[in-house]
Amino acid sequence: MPKYIPEPFRIKVVETIKKTDRAEREEILKQAGYNIFNIPSEKVYIDLLTDSGTGAMSDNQWAGIQTGDESYAHCRNWYHFEQAVQSMTGLKYIIPTHQGRVAENILFSTILKKGMFVPNNNHFDTTRANILANGGIPLDLVIDEGKDPQKYHPFKGNMDIGKLESVLNEHGPKNVPVVFITITNNSGGGQPVSMENIRQVRDVCDRFGVPLFFDACRFAENAYFIKQREVGYSSKSIPEIVHEMFSYVDGCTMSAKKDAIVNIGGFMAFNNPNLLDPFREKLIQIEGFPSYGGLAGRDLEAVARGLIEAQDEDYLAYRVGQVKYLGDLLEKGGVPILKPTGGHAVYINALKFSPHISRDQFPGQSLVVNLYLESGIRAVEVGSLMFAQKDSTTGKIRYPNLDLVRLALPRRVYTGGHLEYVAESVIRLYKNRESLRGMRILDHHDSPLRHFFARLSFL
Ligand code: F0G
Repeated sequence: MPKYIPEPFRIKVVETIKKTDRAEREEILKQAGYNIFNIPSEKVYIDLLTDSGTGAMSDNQWAGIQTGDESYAHCRNWYHFEQAVQSMTGLKYIIPTHQGRVAENILFSTILKKGMFVPNNNHFDTTRANILANGGIPLDLVIDEGKDPQKYHPFKGNMDIGKLESVLNEHGPKNVPVVFITITNNSGGGQPVSMENIRQVRDVCDRFGVPLFFDACRFAENAYFIKQREVGYSSKSIPEIVHEMFSYVDGCTMSAKKDAIVNIGGFMAFNNPNLLDPFREKLIQIEGFPSYGGLAGRDLEAVARGLIEAQDEDYLAYRVGQVKYLGDLLEKGGVPILKPTGGHAVYINALKFSPHISRDQFPGQSLVVNLYLESGIRAVEVGSLMFAQKDSTTGKIRYPNLDLVRLALPRRVYTGGHLEYVAESVIRLYKNRESLRGMRILDHHDSPLRHFFARLSFL
């Protein structure tokens, strides 16, 4: 039996969730155009759509909310927030934003010029979209092992150093305003990046004179993997590891909705004083005054406290342990998953789950819809519906390497019992996989955001 690491907390407040029956779900799906983004959350029993903004805040964070100082400028919570980010990262200048993608917008609209390249291990879709919107070209340079769903590698999020050097040699550092590393690598399965790899990327950036930034959403989970898997780190504390990770970068963007365990919030942090004025001016245009950046004082306090809680080793052992537990249960039931499990989600390989459904019939989306229909669980497709795109020159559809279904675990929300229910449901579906049918899009929009809006039907 896979091992479950017990919760290092007890439950003080509960939120009722209700099971619907299958007939009701059938009707809901019809109404929703078989798109799970359209399902009212009250009609979902277990919601694994995302780990973003869905975490449970602690009593300590809720107590902090009560201390919110809602003055317009330089409220007391801003100082707590600034201090928490500075002491954690060692970075000097802090810009609060209401979520991660605004930090990306501010960064790329300031530093990017048309035709410039931005390498990353794998860009998350909002990062990619913000680069494209500013005329830039996003490059994914994850190591080959990171693209193979079966292959074990302790740090599948690592960047391919040789490829990074080639990009910088080919295009020249003037055309690469920043190199990014996403920790953990969400688009690659929540896989961690090793300290050694971060150091190597830093060396390359130094040689070419290019700044290095983290997309730091899941920095604490990444640090936990370093402690577990990398030689020389087992006796270091998580805050020490976090501090060392950030010591190699010139800045970061961060969605606090992940590892700061808040429902809303984000920031950017950096050392270059020349960026401060343009970033602040843009912030004032689109978010708010630099000491609140689109957040209430109380939100800043919750982030400040959450950043510290997320670095608690008992919490991280339970957190990463939950993901592994769900992965182990599914594997035991024969379900093809991406291995090893990452920090925040289990990814099912839909091409192996339903090999009888072709790519153009959305095998991942079919799995997602059937999982909701049979069990009231909401997962999300990360495959052909989300990523397939028409090549503008050939007119042919280009498919992503994999069709995945992500079961993302909100932080501190679901118990081992919930995870067992999820595993049983997925395994039951797997046993009946031949009955799964392909799908088609009814209202076809050729947009990279179509997965949010598309209406579909079964074939
Ligand atoms: N970077 C990464 C790696 C992310 O996973 C996300 C969000 C963002 C940036 C953007 O942050 O949502 O606060 O604007 N990921 C969510 C997800 C939406 O479901 O994985 P945001």
